[in-house]
Amino acid sequence: MNEVEIFEVGPRDGLQNEKRLIPTEEKVALVDCLSHAGFRRIEIASFVSPKWVPQMADSGDVLRRIKRRDGVRYAALTPNLIGLNAALVARADEVAIFASASEGFSRANLNCSIADSLTRFAPVMQAAGQAGIPVRGYISCVSDCPFDGPTPPAAVARLAGQLLAMGCYEISLGDTIGKAVPERIDMMLRAVLQEVPARQLAGHYHDTGGMALANIEASLAQGVRVFDAAVGGLGGCPYAPGASGNVATELVHEWLTGMGWRTGLNRDVLAQAARMAKDMCRGEG
Ligand code: HMG
Ligand code: MG
Repeated sequence: MNEVEIFEVGPRDGLQNEKRLIPTEEKVALVDCLSHAGFRRIEIASFVSPKWVPQMADSGDVLRRIKRRDGVRYAALTPNLIGLNAALVARADEVAIFASASEGFSRANLNCSIADSLTRFAPVMQAAGQAGIPVRGYISCVSDCPFDGPTPPAAVARLAGQLLAMGCYEISLGDTIGKAVPERIDMMLRAVLQEVPARQLAGHYHDTGGMALANIEASLAQGVRVFDAAVGGLGGCPYAPGASGNVATELVHEWLTGMGWRTGLNRDVLAQAARMAKDMCRGEG
């Protein structure tokens, strides 16, 4: 068992933070390229308020216009029922709810407390269940919060257990501002593993501090085998000051492959998608 899955989040987590309003056809072209890279899951849409994140306002069109490839699940963020209903209409294959382990970021990102966010997610879980759509759960600020400082591992573990109990099939642990170091990731994971088995966890590490690969290595040692990454190292989070740059998919792929892990991804397609992503953000897509 030397397999690791990379969950591509570039078209969502990457592009949501780009200043230039990227035309829908450029997003569709990027996703269509990524569909040939060997990913099982690609996050391409976010049904949030267009006033909050204008870049994602065309999410329904992106989902409708891509060439769907068998074996690939196309995912979308859905913070509430409005978002879920739009995702269902546009035929997202899976959706995600997203909470924060810190109160400060919960308020900045969702305009409510952690407890209130879980109350708002409950009907989303129920409706997704009725529609037969898998739901992933994100936790932001698993190591540090831009507003509240270091996050206690127990807070992450509690929330991870709550999201699992609500029915999330996997919990993605976000180092939203890329400030984590392996020792802190290790402590956080030890706490979370008391609540959620490693096979239902993913690492979502931003590379702002250049430590994402080291944090992936620490997570591999704890049994985590899924990592989120964004092609071309796109993006960040509009509500987390300093959260520039998801760890680059092609970098994670090269590093994992060099360490003897198999990702099932095609290096040449990744390189092509990374070029497209970088051109898009320079306005040359
Ligand atoms: P709110 O203002 O508290 O909510 O926003 P509201 O229910 O009062 O709605 C306000 C307006 O938004 C209303 O419209 C609603 O209809 C509309 P108005 O009457 O003013 O014209 N609205 C919506 N429109 C479209 N789609 C929807 C939707 N919901 C309400 N789904 C809300 C609450 C959650 C909507 C808002 O706070 C929001 O959109 N937040 C999203 C912020 C966001 O997208 N952040 C980035 C994604 S998270 C992330 O990147 C972290 C992650 O990568 C992991 C990591 O790195 O840590 C996942
Ligand atoms: Mg993120």
